[in-house]
Amino acid sequence: MFSGSAAAAYDRFVGRYSPHLATELCDAAGIEARQQALDVGCGSGALAAELARRVGAENVTGIDPSESFVEAARKRVPGARIVVGSAEALPFADDEFDATLAQLVVNFLADPERGVRELVRVTRHAGVLAGCVWDYRGEMTMLRTFWDAAAALDSEAADEGASMRFATPDELRELWADAGLAQVRVAPLVVEASYEDFDDLWQPFTTGVGPAGAYTASLQPERQAALRAEFARRLDSPDGAFTLSARVWCAVGTT
Ligand SMILES: C[S@@+](CC[C@H](N)C(=O)[O-])C[C@H]1O[C@@H](n2cnc3c(N)ncnc32)[C@H](O)[C@@H]1O
Repeated sequence: MFSGSAAAAYDRFVGRYSPHLATELCDAAGIEARQQALDVGCGSGALAAELARRVGAENVTGIDPSESFVEAARKRVPGARIVVGSAEALPFADDEFDATLAQLVVNFLADPERGVRELVRVTRHAGVLAGCVWDYRGEMTMLRTFWDAAAALDSEAADEGASMRFATPDELRELWADAGLAQVRVAPLVVEASYEDFDDLWQPFTTGVGPAGAYTASLQPERQAALRAEFARRLDSPDGAFTLSARVWCAVGTT
C-alpha cells in the first residue's frame, strides 16, 4: 500500500503530528514502565518509539498491514517486535498486553467493530485500551482548512470530515463501549506541528499520500495551483515559519 518513500512522505504530512500526539496518548493511557504495550496500526513507528522510551523497546510490539511502514518502524525502534498484520486478525494470544493503543487508526479499519474487539481480546483483564481519531470536522486545522479550500473550488471534493467514521466523541465512545470496555472516557488532545514555510506544508500533499494527497495529486496543474493558493489564503498566507494545531478525540477504556 505504501512504498518506502511514501512512509517518508507520511512523516512530512500527517505524521509530522505523530510524535507529539504519541506523548499525549501515552499520558492519557497512563503508560507505565515495564508494561507490555501494543501499537496497532503503528505506521512509521512514532507511537512505538514513545512507548519504547517509557516501557523499554523489548516490551513494545507494533503491527501494521503495510510492509514498508513496518520496515520504517523497525528502523525507528530497534529492539521492538514489529510485525505485518491487521487489527481485525491479530496474531497474538489472549491477554498478552497490559496496554493496547491505536493512534489515528480505527477510522481506517475495514471492520472497526471487529478490530476493536480483537484489541480487547489481546489485552489482559483490567488493562487499558486507548485510541484517537482526528477531529476532521473541527479543529484538525491542516486537514479542515485543506478540505474547506477544496470545497470552495470543487463541490465534488471528497471531504474527509464528511466521510470519516469515529470523528466525533459520541461515535468513538460507542465503539469503545460496544466492544465491552468499562470506564470509557473520551477527551480532546491538542498537538502542534511546525512548518518552515507554506511550501513545507503543501509539498507532501502533491505526493498523493492519504486521501487529501490523493485528491491533490489527481488535479490538473492549474487546478492544483488554484487549490494551493486558496489553501494558503485560508491560513492567512504565511510568510516564513508557522505552527498549526490539531485536535483528536481520544478514547480510553478498561478491559
Ligand atoms: C493515519 S496512519 C497512523 C499511523 C501511526 N499510528 C501514526 O500515528 O502515525 C493509519 C495507519 O493504519 C494502518 N492500517 C490500515 N488498515 C489497518 C488494519 N486493518 N489494521 C491495522 N492497521 C491498519 C495504516 O497502514 C497506517 O499505518
